[in-house]
Amino acid sequence: MPKIFFITTAIDYTNSPPHIGHAYEKVLADVIARYHRLKGEKVFFLTGVDQHGQKVQQSAAKAGTPPSEFVKEITQKFIDLWKKLGVRYDEWAETTSDRHKKVVQGILQRLFDAGQIYKDKQAGYYSVRQEQFLTDKERGPDGQFGPEWGEVEFREEENYYFKLSQHKEWLLRYLEERKDAVIPDFRQTELRNAVGRLSGDLCISRPKSRLDWGIELPFDKNFVTYVWFDALTNYISFAGYDPGLSTLKSQPSTFRDKWPALQIIGKDILVPAHGIYWLIMLHAIGFLDEQMPQLLVHGWWNLGGAKMSKSAGNIIDPFVLVDKYGADALRYYLMSDIATGKDADFSEERLIATCDSDLANVIGNLVNRTLNMVIRYRDGRITHVKDKDLAPGGPGSVELQKLVEVEAPRSLEVYTQEMTSFQITKAAGMAVNLGLYGNGIVEVTAPWRLAKDSSQDRRLDSVLYHLVELVRVIAILISPLLPRAAHGIFDQLNWRMDLSGKDERFALVDAEWGRLPHGHVVGKPVPLFPRIEAD
Ligand code: ME8
Ligand code: MG
Repeated sequence: MPKIFFITTAIDYTNSPPHIGHAYEKVLADVIARYHRLKGEKVFFLTGVDQHGQKVQQSAAKAGTPPSEFVKEITQKFIDLWKKLGVRYDEWAETTSDRHKKVVQGILQRLFDAGQIYKDKQAGYYSVRQEQFLTDKERGPDGQFGPEWGEVEFREEENYYFKLSQHKEWLLRYLEERKDAVIPDFRQTELRNAVGRLSGDLCISRPKSRLDWGIELPFDKNFVTYVWFDALTNYISFAGYDPGLSTLKSQPSTFRDKWPALQIIGKDILVPAHGIYWLIMLHAIGFLDEQMPQLLVHGWWNLGGAKMSKSAGNIIDPFVLVDKYGADALRYYLMSDIATGKDADFSEERLIATCDSDLANVIGNLVNRTLNMVIRYRDGRITHVKDKDLAPGGPGSVELQKLVEVEAPRSLEVYTQEMTSFQITKAAGMAVNLGLYGNGIVEVTAPWRLAKDSSQDRRLDSVLYHLVELVRVIAILISPLLPRAAHGIFDQLNWRMDLSGKDERFALVDAEWGRLPHGHVVGKPVPLFPRIEAD
């Protein structure tokens, strides 16, 4: 079996409906997954929802709904959003599923049997309102616990602990040796520093008396497991991992062919969840260093420089935006106004401006005018003209030659480099640049003038051929970001109609210049990217 490109995202909490940050992460993963399919690779894209834990139990209680029903409703909202946004995943993870529970319990039992999990008594200050033990970090400058913690009492509680600190040296060494364990670099540095400060083990249980919305410990039915231990396991439980088999070599091929994954997460869940708990969990259950997943850490969308939060009431609702501007516009904006790894500020004005300039004015305009001209001047038929049939030095000859020899191959090369390093904004920029170049050719060659001069017949054929070919290449390059629009362009080009609507219609190898055959007949142009704002 050839290796499968395995990509995951964080699974989203079902304590509240999806917001723009969730949408960004899923679209980012979808674009990367589609790019790898475009390269002809087999892809397995896993995403889903995180349905257990205290946050969910509390939100359900507030809504007066049993947690099981509460999560069903919110889960449906996530599913609806991914459908609306054209996020195409291969497997859907819901942590309340039996399949997942079995794997979580299997791993817990194995770690327990291996002496990696032990029971201990914890005594300390406990916030009843927040349902958590407090440490000195939570004390205010006056040494007291602030009013946000509500009633604070001294408590003694027995719990189960995972021997996290035992693996500290291993993790430090692993991060030292593997330079690209975390992308971008500064996040790997942040993680390494955090591991350096690591002390103590991880409490992985909650007594059912205070939390029962979770997966029961297989060795003690008075406890459920801590939500992170449960949630992180989704990455292997939904990929076919069998907890009964201790080495990766002995795992079923369905799992081996995929693992390890590229895991996309936001900056808030690198330390300690993914960077420490998850890597150590995998190490403790027998994964070798070269079997560790790679973590791609993205930044956050803010609003007016401030964090979006429910309490501040400044959450951006992706449903409203999709209904108002369409999925293409939202996908394009989310991929083009942020550098992967960095934060950005969300702005509806910028969404409108970016889509109007790049999609409507550049790409949409080029597609539209190109097809219109081919239909008006050539009844839709394109003619492949040989260079030797053209008088040298005619209008646009320098530009056409540069397009074929420099612009198109160079754009393709940079596009591939940027996609490979997850810089989607820059990759998309190459398609837009080609669009600008194409519009420039229209201005320079003025086909409407060539059409009036019969001695320029061959030249007009040549200009039109180049423009149609350019439109075809641009469609392929934008297809990971804008699959619907890319299909629209191919449909209008009357190209690969047998695969209309299917992802296999697009292949990166076809982005090579000159694949459009002589005599091809294009279809009618239909505006794909109407301007949002009037001129
Ligand atoms: O953390 N901009 O779930 P979650 C960009 N269930 N990304 C954002 C964002 C923003 N403003 N706000 C949140 C969880 N995110 C856990 C994960 S994984 C085994 C369990 C990202 O719903 C956030 O960084 O709070 C995270 O990657 C994802 O949305 C889910 O966040
Ligand atoms: Mg969160």
